[in-house]
Amino acid sequence: MDKIVIEGGHPLKGVVKVSGAKNAALPAIAACLLTGGPHTLRGIPLLRDIRTIKSIMEKLGTVFKGSGDVLEVNSDNLTAHEAPYELVKTMRASILLLGPLLARLGQAKISLPGGCAIGARPINLHLKALVSMGADIHLEHGYINAEAKKLKGADVFFDIPTVTGTENIMMAAVTAQGTTTLRNAANEPEIKDLAQMLCAMGADIEGAGTDTIVIHGVDNLAPCEHTIIPDRIEAGTFMIAAALTRGDVDIQGCRPDHLMALMEKLQQTGAEVTKMDESIHVKGPESIESVDIKTMPFPGFATDLQAQFMALMTVAKGWSMFRETVFENRFIHVSELRRLGADIEINGNQALVKGREKLLSAPVMATDLRASASLILAGLVAEGGATEVHRIYHLDRGYEDIENKFRALGAKIRREKGPSV
Ligand code: EPZ
Repeated sequence: MDKIVIEGGHPLKGVVKVSGAKNAALPAIAACLLTGGPHTLRGIPLLRDIRTIKSIMEKLGTVFKGSGDVLEVNSDNLTAHEAPYELVKTMRASILLLGPLLARLGQAKISLPGGCAIGARPINLHLKALVSMGADIHLEHGYINAEAKKLKGADVFFDIPTVTGTENIMMAAVTAQGTTTLRNAANEPEIKDLAQMLCAMGADIEGAGTDTIVIHGVDNLAPCEHTIIPDRIEAGTFMIAAALTRGDVDIQGCRPDHLMALMEKLQQTGAEVTKMDESIHVKGPESIESVDIKTMPFPGFATDLQAQFMALMTVAKGWSMFRETVFENRFIHVSELRRLGADIEINGNQALVKGREKLLSAPVMATDLRASASLILAGLVAEGGATEVHRIYHLDRGYEDIENKFRALGAKIRREKGPSV
C-alpha cells in the first residue's frame, strides 16, 4: 500500500486548479443508465471511485470512451441489472445505480452497501421512497432485489435530507407515471447539478436546490452533454491548507457560492479570504484564531470539511468546539491527529480542540477519505522530520493527483510505492 511522505514547514504559495466534483460525477454517470445513446460528460475527475462505478456499469453493459476529463457513456445495450458485492463494498455510492436501473429496466439487484468508517450509512429512506413509487423490494443474502413494471409518481417525505437518497429518487422519478414530490429533499449543489443534467436529457424537474423538488414523469429521455460542477470539498481542502501553512494561494475553477460557510469560518480565524467569480484567494494569518464548528446540510458547514478544519484548529490559539451533526462516527481522524501531538477531547458527537503551538511529525494511518486529507494537512505543518500517511488508497478515492497539486504549491511531499496487499 502506498504512503505519502511530507516534510512540514513550507508555506503554500501559488495557484491550484480544482477538479470536477466526485459527488456530482458519480450520480451523473449513474444517470446515463436512464437512456441509450452516447452521453458526453465533461469535468470528470480521475479518481478511484469513478473507476469503480465504471467497472460496475461495464458489467451491466454500459460502454465508456473518452480521455482526460471527458467521458462518453453509452448504455444502449444493458445486458444485466446486478451490481456485485465485491465492487459495491468498495464504494457505497453504488446505491445510486438502483433508481436508474429500476426506471430503465424495471429491475435491479444491488449489493446492500455496508456501513463505513464514518457511520452505519443506512439506505432505508431510499428504499421507502421507491416502495411508495410502486417498487417491490426485498433484501436477501446481502442484496437489494427490486422490481417495478412501471414506477408511479409519489409524494415522498425524507425524514432526513439525504443527498444520494434525493439523487436516487429524482432519477427513479424522471420517467415514472405521474408526478413525484420530494419534501425535505437535500439541497447540496450536486443535487442541482444532477437536475440540470436530467433536464438536458428531457426530464421535467422544478425546485432542485431547494427542500421541495417536483418531478413530472416524461415518456422519453435523450442522451445529453453535461459539464460537472467543480469539487467544493477539494477547493475547501486547499483553502484550509493555505490558512494552515500561513500560505498565499489562489484556488481556481471553484464556485465561491458553494463555499460560503467555509469562507466565513476561515475569515474568523484571521485568514484573508477574497472571492472572485470562479476563484477564491486565501492568505493565511500569522496567528490562527480558534473557531467553533457545527456541521450541517448545505449551505451550512460541510461535514466533508470537518476533519480538514480540525487539523487547522489543532494549531490555533485557544479552544474550538466541533459538533458533528450529520454522521455518528466522524472523528476517527482524532486519534491519528493526537499522534501528531494534537490536544483533542471527544464527548459523543462533540470534540474539543485545544490549540497547540506546533505539531510533531509521526507515522499516521488514513481511515477514510476526508480523515486522510486531514492528516495530509497536519503533515504540512508538523515539525521535527517527515510525517508519513499510510493507507492513502482512501485519499485516492476522492482527490485527483493531490500530492502533485500540493508540490506545485511548494509543499515538500512525495508518494512512496508500498508493497501491494
Ligand atoms: C453524501 O453521502 C456524500 N457522498 C458524502 O460524501 C457526504 O458526506 C454526505 O452526502 C453528506 O453531505 C456522495 O454524495 C457520494 P446522506 P450520503 O444520505 O448521501 C442518514 C465524501 O467524503 N441517512 O446525505 O450517503 C445518514 O446516516 C462522502 O465524499 C439515513 O438515515 O449521505 C446520515 O446520518 C462521505 N437513511 C444522514 O442521513 C438513509 O436512507 C445524511 O446522509 C440515508 C441517509
